[in-house]
Amino acid sequence: MNDRVSRYPDSEALAQAAAELFIELVNDAIAERGQCHVALAGGATPRATYAALARETCAARVDWSRVQVYWGDERCVPPNSLDSDFRLAWETLLAHVPIPAEHVHRMRGELEPRAAMEEYDALLHQAFPGVSWPRFDLILLGLGTDGHTASLFPGTAALAETERWVAANFVPQLDAWRLTLTLPAINHAANILFLVSGARKAEILREALRPADHSAPLAARRVHPIHGTLRWLVDAEAAALLGTGYINEE
Ligand code: 6PG
Repeated sequence: MNDRVSRYPDSEALAQAAAELFIELVNDAIAERGQCHVALAGGATPRATYAALARETCAARVDWSRVQVYWGDERCVPPNSLDSDFRLAWETLLAHVPIPAEHVHRMRGELEPRAAMEEYDALLHQAFPGVSWPRFDLILLGLGTDGHTASLFPGTAALAETERWVAANFVPQLDAWRLTLTLPAINHAANILFLVSGARKAEILREALRPADHSAPLAARRVHPIHGTLRWLVDAEAAALLGTGYINEE
């Protein structure tokens, strides 16, 4: 299936569209099963989407008591670190909506990486009991300029993980440990949504949108939901090198 690529004039229009789609997909899941499991992305791109979701016009359209929030990845830092993906989402969104504290499931980056991995793996197996793979209703992802997504960086061990749901991944390029959902855990999601913004992502976006290839060095090219949807929401700067054939929706 050709990935659905939607282009927006600028990052703010992208953020607003992403917030609307988030609300639609979350409410569909709640209508279907009474609750929704969402994994948030880290990095800078989703900040504007989280801020849009926190605005009353959006926040009021979600029953946050039925939303369970997870992370697609986390840096191995304390939750109050400026590098923490949890802190980004907490400050821009979760602190501003009535989501029960027990529904916010952060990866504990302050722990020793493998201990944090084991803990999150157990948490996910509790949230998704009796199944081979978790089925998140929605996973938000960003795209790094090297083609990484979540914390699945080119050439790192976690890219090859086929059994675990969560990996502790040493990233030599950063000389740092990361925690991340694995590709199979991501690819079993019902809806995957990439958010890509800015001119510096134009080249890697064109590369990432080449047909899915499960042996590709770029994690982003290995993201392909087994039974679900894959959407790319991009702004005009990021889409600058894409031929019209890639764009499905303006
Ligand atoms: C992280 C993210 C990572 C991010 C990309 C893009 O923890 O950093 O999970 O995968 O999405 O690096 O980051 P930007 O949005 O900052 O460009």
